[in-house]
Amino acid sequence: MCGIVGYIGLSDVKEILLKGLEKLEYRGYDSAGIAVRNDAGIHVFKEKGRIADLRQVVDSNVEATTGIGHTRWATHGVPNYTNSHPHQSASKRFTIVHNGVIENYHLLQDQFLPNITMQSDTDTEVIVQLVEHFSNEGMTTETAFCHTLSLLEGSYAIGLIDAENEDTIFVAKNKSPLLVGVGEGFNVIASDAMAMLNETNQFIELHDQEVVLVKANEVQIKKIDGTLIERAPYKAELDLSDIDKGTYPHYMLKEMDEQPAVVRRIMQQYENEAGDLTIDPTILQAIKEADRLYIIAAGTSYHAGLIGKQYFEKMAQIPVEVHISSEFGYNMPLLSKKPLFVFISQSGETADSRQVLVKVKEMGHKALTITNVPGSTLSREADYTLLLHAGPEIAVASTKAYVAQVAVLAITAAAVADQLTFDLKKELGIAANAIQSIIDRKEEFATVVEKFLATTRNAFFIGRGMDYFVSMEAALKLKEISYIQAEGFAGGELKHGTIALIEDGTPVIALATQKEVALNLRGNVKEVAARGAHTCIIAMEGMDEAGDTLTIPHVHPLLAPLAAVVPVQLISYYAALYRGCDVDKPRNLAKSVTVE
Ligand code: F6R
Repeated sequence: MCGIVGYIGLSDVKEILLKGLEKLEYRGYDSAGIAVRNDAGIHVFKEKGRIADLRQVVDSNVEATTGIGHTRWATHGVPNYTNSHPHQSASKRFTIVHNGVIENYHLLQDQFLPNITMQSDTDTEVIVQLVEHFSNEGMTTETAFCHTLSLLEGSYAIGLIDAENEDTIFVAKNKSPLLVGVGEGFNVIASDAMAMLNETNQFIELHDQEVVLVKANEVQIKKIDGTLIERAPYKAELDLSDIDKGTYPHYMLKEMDEQPAVVRRIMQQYENEAGDLTIDPTILQAIKEADRLYIIAAGTSYHAGLIGKQYFEKMAQIPVEVHISSEFGYNMPLLSKKPLFVFISQSGETADSRQVLVKVKEMGHKALTITNVPGSTLSREADYTLLLHAGPEIAVASTKAYVAQVAVLAITAAAVADQLTFDLKKELGIAANAIQSIIDRKEEFATVVEKFLATTRNAFFIGRGMDYFVSMEAALKLKEISYIQAEGFAGGELKHGTIALIEDGTPVIALATQKEVALNLRGNVKEVAARGAHTCIIAMEGMDEAGDTLTIPHVHPLLAPLAAVVPVQLISYYAALYRGCDVDKPRNLAKSVTVE
C-alpha cells in the first residue's frame, strides 16, 4: 500500500529510483513519482498510472545523486497528477514521499497552517508544509522534522529531502514498513528490501518513532529525543531470481506453478532430525497452554484460517475462532480465559491485523504470527513466528501463500495433536503431487472458462464442509482479477434465499472433495440446474461421476483444500486473461494493505 524508495550516493539516481519503484509496484499503482536533488534544486517528476507512464515524463537530462520515489495506492484524494507523490512545501524547499495515513491532518492544518493553500487533497501534504512552517520559525531541518513527527497521529513511512541540505535524506516510520539499505559510498531506503536488491543486500530495520538521517557514508538512527541508537545491518536472504518473472507472462502463473515445490519446501523446513514434521517446542507449548485459539486474518489469509480451524479442532481438539481482522479489533467478542492469538498474513504488514495485534498485546495476551516475510511488522511484534517459506509473492492475487498457509496450519495442528489417525508427511507429499498433476493439465482450465465464464457477469462457487471454505477463496480470486461478481456459498444454504438469483445460464461451479457430504452437494447442484444454472462439477477421484467437468487426484480429505484450490485459481487466471484484465495488478487493489 504505497511504496517508497530513496538513494543518496554517487550514481545518477533516476534509474535506481525507477527500478526500485518497479519492484514496489505491487504495493500500489495509481500513480508514481520521483524527486531528485542537485545544485539547481529539487526536480519533481510524477504521473498518474504506472511506473512505465512515469518513465515517459522523467527528463533524462537532469542529473542528480540524491532522490526519493513513490508508487501510490490512493487513500486521501483521487488518483490524479496533483495528488501523486512527491509533495512539496509552499516554497518548494522541502519535498516528501509518504506511505501511511495521517489521521489528524485536518486539525494540524487548521492549527498551524491556516494561511497555507494546500495544493493537493492528500493527508501527506500537511507533513511537508509543517516542516517548512517550523523551519521558517527558525528550527533546523532536523528539529523541524522531529517536531512535525511529534504532532502526527497515524501511520507513516517518510523520506524527505531539503533543497538547502545536500547530504541528507530525512527518514522516519511509524506502523508502516521502512528499511535502510547500506552500501559503499551510498545508502538507500525502501519499503521492502526487494526494491533495492540491485544495490545492496545489507539492510537495517527501523523501529517506530525513530528518526533517521541517511547520508551517503553514514546512517544515524535516533530516538525522537535525539539519543543515538546503534543497530547493525542484516543480510536480506533474497535472491533476485526469486522476484524475476522469468519467461512467464504473469507472476500469478509462475506462483501457481511453484505450489508443489512450496509444499515440499515447507515439509523440509518443518522436518526434525528424526524426519518428523513438527514446529518449535516453545510455540507448541504456547498452543497447548491456550484454552482457545483466535485466528485473525484478512482476505485470502482469512480463508486459510477457516481451514486452520478445522485442523486444530479435528486433529488437536483445540477450540478455535476465526475472525476478520478489520472487524475484530473494534468489536471484540468475549474472550476465553487463556487465549492465544494466531495472525495469518502473507505480507506480515496488513494494518487491519496489526491493530488487533497491538490491542491484544496491550491486554497482555500472547500472539503467534504465521507469515511469508521474516522480519515483517507482524512477525517482529508477535511473541512467536512460523514462516511460510513460499518465496516472494508478487502477484496481487495470493495463490502460493494460501497453499503454504494451509500446509503450515496442518503441520502445526498435527504437531499439537496427541495422536493422528493418518501420516501427515505422506499425505502432504501426495497433495504436492496432486497439485503438480492439476498444474500439468492447466490448459484444460482455459476451456472451462470459455464454456462457463466467457460472457457472464456473475458466478457462484458452492461446496460443503472444507469445500465451502475453498469456494469462498475461489469467489474472491475470480472477483479480484476478472471482475466477475462471484459468491462462495455453502451448498445447502442456497435454497434459503440466494437461489432466487439463479437464472438461465448462471454459472455454478461445485467442489466435491468431501465424501460424507458429496451426495448432498450433488443434490444442491441438481436444485440449481433445475432452475437453469450452467453447472460445472470439480470432483475428487473416488467421488467423481460420469458427466463431471473435471476430476482431480485423490488426497486426504483434510488436505483436499490444497488440491481443490488449484483448479479455481487456474479458472480465475484464465477468466482474467480471457477478459483482457491485468492479471497481476487488478484495478483498485494493492498487495500489501498497510492502511486500515
Ligand atoms: C487476495 C489477497 C488478499 C490478502 C489480504 C491479506 O488474493 O491476497 O485478500 O490475502 O489482503 O493480506 P496478508 O495475507 O498479507 O495479510
